[in-house]
Formats: sequence, structure tokens, C-alpha cells
Amino acid sequence: MPQILGLISQQTIQQILSRIDIIDIVGGFVKLKKRGANYLGLCPFHNEKTPSFTVSPAKEIYKCFGCGRSGNTIGFLMEHEKYSYVEALRWLANRYNIEVEETETSPEFKQQQQVAESLFIINNFAQQYFSNVLFNEEEGQDIGLSYLKERKFRDEIIEKFQLGYCLDKRDAFATTAVAAKYNADYLQKSGLVVMRDSRLVDNYRGRIIFPVHNQTGKIIGFGARIIRSNDRAPKYINTPENEIYVKSKILYGSYFARRAIDINDECLLVEGYTDVISLHQAGIENVVASGGTSLTLDQLRLIKKYTNNLTIIYDGDSAGIKAALRGLDMAIEEGLNVKLVLIPDKEDPDSYVQKVGAGSFKNFIAENKKDFILFQLEVSVKDAGSDSAKKAAVVNQLAETISKINKAEDFTRQQDYIRQCAELLKIDEQGLHNLVNKFIREKVQREEQKSPDKKNTGPALNETIDFSDETFNALFQDELQERALVRILVNYGAKAFDEKKTVADYIFGEEIEEDFFKNKKINDLLAIYKREHSIGRNLSVTDFTYLPDNEIVQLVINATNYPYEMSVRWNDEDRAHTINKKIWELNYEEFRSQILKEEKANEIIYFLGADENYKNEVEDVLIYLKLKKVKRLILLNEEDMKNPQSDPETIKHYQEVHIHLKQMQQELSGKKGTVVYPF
Ligand code: UTP
Ligand code: MN
Repeated sequence: MPQILGLISQQTIQQILSRIDIIDIVGGFVKLKKRGANYLGLCPFHNEKTPSFTVSPAKEIYKCFGCGRSGNTIGFLMEHEKYSYVEALRWLANRYNIEVEETETSPEFKQQQQVAESLFIINNFAQQYFSNVLFNEEEGQDIGLSYLKERKFRDEIIEKFQLGYCLDKRDAFATTAVAAKYNADYLQKSGLVVMRDSRLVDNYRGRIIFPVHNQTGKIIGFGARIIRSNDRAPKYINTPENEIYVKSKILYGSYFARRAIDINDECLLVEGYTDVISLHQAGIENVVASGGTSLTLDQLRLIKKYTNNLTIIYDGDSAGIKAALRGLDMAIEEGLNVKLVLIPDKEDPDSYVQKVGAGSFKNFIAENKKDFILFQLEVSVKDAGSDSAKKAAVVNQLAETISKINKAEDFTRQQDYIRQCAELLKIDEQGLHNLVNKFIREKVQREEQKSPDKKNTGPALNETIDFSDETFNALFQDELQERALVRILVNYGAKAFDEKKTVADYIFGEEIEEDFFKNKKINDLLAIYKREHSIGRNLSVTDFTYLPDNEIVQLVINATNYPYEMSVRWNDEDRAHTINKKIWELNYEEFRSQILKEEKANEIIYFLGADENYKNEVEDVLIYLKLKKVKRLILLNEEDMKNPQSDPETIKHYQEVHIHLKQMQQELSGKKGTVVYPF
């Protein structure tokens, strides 16, 4: 019986980490060639002809300059093999013959793990049983297999997806399972059998069995399809929710699709099991199914682990479309790029690919994919007709959706949408722009009100504030500065800033509150650093790249100077200086169009960067932190000023404070901008 999953002791983790040889491990999956101090290979995460996947043995990290993925050895295993952190550690322990020491776990946790483990074992047994029936028993062949053949599924695809058949008998499976000593309670929990008249009977009688695998290929449950449709029985019977079958987290086919999704950098989403299987049979493997319900946040995040590009393929008159669309504002917020294709003529992906073949199917998808936002817009414009009130509602709805694209790196996308939608709707682009900004502003206000340290102080926004500047700050500058802070702490935290204090001493001297930064991972990272710092320990870059949270690791790797060394063309002070100046002089859009279009965005990697300059960078970040605090104070003070009950004395005081703060702001602003930040 496989080991029960528990937590691994810190000591074992240290032992594993000290043994890791990144070249050995990554080299087992990717062919690597030595290039200077580093190793180079073809990236396993995207399709490329010239190698840009780099591994640094000294830093124990990998980075692909094509697709941008990076991480440590454990992160590599998690990304490449889709392991969890603990699974990756176990894999390494096994590889290096290290005995895994479990830490004490709570009895509830152990109990739950035990149930989960038992269910996996039962499902595995059931799958083998049903497949055997399908291929080797008369009823299986005559009814199950012949049905699958009728639907043109070939043997190898039936085997790959481990399809099966459940005999149309009262308790054929139940009896076999009980005889093999499987526990009756767990058998019921698995949904394979049910209790009728105090006897265990089969639940999927006379049905085709579709095992449902999790991302690592283990069977978490089944869908059982009726063979001839029948009014009295449901088309599919599915596993009930249990310890391992959690409907909101399932994407059917994800285990078989993961590689192809990586390579194509796109995930196709269909409705049904048979759609997934047919497309696979046609060689289109980057496909998963939602089971016809609206997409959940968990499912979207799962997709996001593999790719940012989601293409939904539904039949034109499917009831599922509306359900699927419902989840999609969420997808936009998660930063997914959503496209939609409708299959014509009452076909579904399964029947359509079988009818026209793989090549035509792919062409059809490529030619007919519509951007989700534009699709939604077209549908609602049609709906609204010439009704101007309805049209206004459409514009509002649209602006709100667009405003949800809030990641700095997606800023161009947002601008593109505004342009395209304004064109489609024949409305003024600037007007739409303003409307989108209004929604962003409202959202920022709502979030600020939610944060506990400032109960009633939405920023005092009025005509005098240039909003495009605020947007710029919110979306861009902060992000760069936040990353600069990470870079400095991780690289230079332990170095001296002056005779008395280290860089970390100075930064933590600024009393950064726990939720100071927009990027939650930066807050987490700072909390970890601070904790270690307070007990007098200094963390090295390598310590950071082995934190369990992969998002923090990515942040650290992207913010440390590794890419700079790779990027010779940025070893150019003049160029860096020009960009530096422009960042501060131009407004965001201008910057974006002038600089980013000249250079590929991800190639502007690093800046001045020479380590001797770190004190300048630290000063810059300190100014940024101070500036940010002053801005907060100004807003708070402005709120106070508005209080109608204040007497003239108090008002005068507020005004003095205001002037003082503004002065500080100006001084600080004058000092900033000596460094170009990485992004
Ligand atoms: P479909 O009715 O499109 O089924 O439902 P299908 O898988 O394409 O099957 P064929 O091609 O008609 O044989 C799409 C998905 O919705 C879920 C299943 O996951 C199915 O694959 N579903 C459908 C159920 O869970 N229960 C049902 O009764 C029907
Ligand atoms: Mn179908």
C-alpha cells in the first residue's frame, strides 16, 4: 500500500536540498549543453527551435528567455511533472535514496489522507475491472466495445483514456470488490456501489465508464454514460463529492493534455468527455472538458498554471455557452486571455472533428476564434438594437469588464480593447477610456475602504487630480518599485549601507506595514525576511530560491540580477540612462509606445545593475517608501480638512500640515529617478 501523504520534516527537507544537483535533475528531462558557466537547452515549456532555456548550476535556478518561466529544481519538477511541492520533494528523496521523515500530523489530517488513499486504491481496482470487462467479456464486447466502435473510437484511444464497461447485472462489480476485501463503506463513498435493500449493488449498470484523472494521472472518480438514451435515466451518472472527487476542481483530461498545453501555450476547453477523447484521437491534445457547468475559480487557476491562453470551443446552440460565459469575468481578472469558437450546424467538437478531420478542424478554430470580450460585445450590441438606453448599458457593462484587466503587464491589452471596442461601437475612444478609468477608480476606492488601517478614507479624488497620472502610479510605477525593493533586499540585504547599519536594517527601519504592497507575495516575502532578520539571520539568494511558495521564488528570481548577466545589450549605461529619464518624464502610454515598441518588452531586463551601485538603488527605494507614506498622510489629512466641525484653529493646523507634507512630497519627488527598474 502506498505511503500515506503527510508533512515532511524540516531536517529531511534540508537533506534533500543539500543533495540537489540541478543539472542532473533538469538534465534528465531536457538535453543541456554547457555554455560558459551555464547550461543551455530547448525549453520544455514552449515550442522553440533555438535554445533559450538556461540553467545556472551556481545559482541552482533555471530561466527561459523565450517564455519567461523560471524557478529552482523543485519548481522545475512542479512545473514539468505537475507535482505538488511535497510530491516533488518525495520524488527527489527517492532519487537520492534519502529516507523521508514525517512530522507529526493531526489525527484528522491522517484520517482524511487514509480515506483518500483508500478511495484511490478502490478506483484503480474498479478501472482495471471495468476495462477488463469491456475488452474480455462477451457483454462488454458486444455492447460496450461495439458502441465505442460505432462512435469511431479506436482501441489505442480507449486504452489511453482507460475506458471501461459495467455489466448490466445487479451486483457483478460489488461482489467482486467485496470478495477482494474492499471496505463496504469506502466502496459506497466512491459511488461505485450503492446500498439497496441492505445489499450492495452496482451503480453504473450497463454503462460506459469514463475514469476521471487528476493532474498527476490518479483516478479520482468516474462518469458513467448510458448506452441508448432513455427518458427515465440520466445520460451520465457521476461520482458523488468525496475526499478526492471535488467537482469544482476537476478539468477532465488535464492529465493527458498538460504537455500539449505547455507546448502550444493554449488550452482548449470543450464540454464533454467524448469531445476530449475525439480530439485526442485526431492528434489535438491540448484539450480539457468542464463537464458543461460554468467555470469555477479553481478550474481557471488550474488552467492558468499551464497557460494564459484559454480557447473555449462549444457547439453553437449549446445551453452550456451561457453557463461557461458566466465565469469569464473571473477569467479576465485572473489575467487569462479568453477566446471563443462556436461549432456550427448542430455539431459538437466530437462529431465535427470526426466529420471534417484534424486539419480542417484546426483551421476552423484558428479562423473563427473570437476574443471573448469582443464576442460578448457583439452579442449585446445585437440584443440592444437601436434602443439607446440598452446601448448605454452595454457600454457600461463593457467598460466594467475592461476595467478588470488590472495587471500592469496587461496594460497594453486594456488599451487595445478600448480602441477596438470604441471602433465597434462607434463611440469616442477617450470617452470610453474615461469610463474604464472610472471603474478602476471605484474599484481602488472599494479596496482602500476594505483595508482596516484606513476606515473611511477613500482617496480624495476630485478634478484637480490628474487621473491618468494616478493610473500610471497604480499600474506601473509601484510595481517596478516593489520589485526593485525585492531585488535589493535579496541581493544586498546583508551588505553595509553605512558604518552602523545594513541595507536590511534601513529598509525595515521604515516600518513597512504588513499590507503595504499591492503584490501580496511581496508582503509575504518581506514578512519572511523580517522574521529572519529579527533573529539576526541573513538569507542568501539561494535560501530565497528554495522557499516553498513557488510564486515567491519566481518573484525573487525575476527580481535578482541573473537575467542582466545574460542580456549583454543592456550593458549600456547611456541607453539605460535614456530609458530612465523617459520613464519619469513621459506619461505611461507614451512610455509604453515609445520604449516598449522599440524593444521587446521582456528584453528590457535589467538596468545599470553593477553591484557597486547598490547604495544608489537602496536610496532610491527608500525615497519611494517614504514618498508612498507621505502620500498616504496627505490623503488622511485631506479627509480631516473636510470635517465641517473643525474650528478655525484646527483648520489652520491642517493646512499647515498639508503644506508641510506637500513640501516633503516635492522634495522626495525631486530626488527620485536615479535608477531604471527591472521588469
Ligand atoms: P453532453 O451531453 O454533451 O455529453 O454533456 P457528451 O460527453 O458530449 O456525450 P455524447 O457525445 O453525447 O456521448 C457534456 C458533459 O456534461 C456532463 C458530462 O461531463 C458530459 O461529458 N453531463 C452531461 C453530466 O454530467 N450529466 C448528464 O446527464 C449530461
Ligand atoms: Mn457529445
